[in-house]
Amino acid sequence: MSHWQESLRTCVPDIDQEHRFLYGLLARLDLSRATEAIDALHAFLQEHFVHEERLMDESSYPDRAEHRHQHAHLAARVEQLRASAAPWTMARLHAFRSLLSDWLEAHIAVHDKALALWHAAWTEYTRGPMPHKGVMETSMGQP
Ligand SMILES: [Fe+2]
Repeated sequence: MSHWQESLRTCVPDIDQEHRFLYGLLARLDLSRATEAIDALHAFLQEHFVHEERLMDESSYPDRAEHRHQHAHLAARVEQLRASAAPWTMARLHAFRSLLSDWLEAHIAVHDKALALWHAAWTEYTRGPMPHKGVMETSMGQP
């Protein structure tokens, strides 16, 4: 998938916004300024991972070790491609775009959606009791 789509939406709007932005950076990669564009994408990807990892830590997300591992693995792969002495060509750029878009699609569909659900539930839980009446209270006829 080369563009962000509704099917990639999670229940955390900030995360969705960052994913959309990443897909936008990927779509705008072009050969005339490949190095700068990939540097910008790499920098934003790092910020995005830090953001997600903060959400994992603050909510004690149970699968955070595996999720972090996936981030680290992709970051290392991107770093390796950036560091290569080979000049950017259309073929290399295409391979880079495919690597990132395939990874994002698979990662968002499973890992980011799971994290977002967990974090949304955690946020709801830590917000305290809901203002509506509980089931017990209502069924017992109390005011
Ligand atoms: Fe992630």
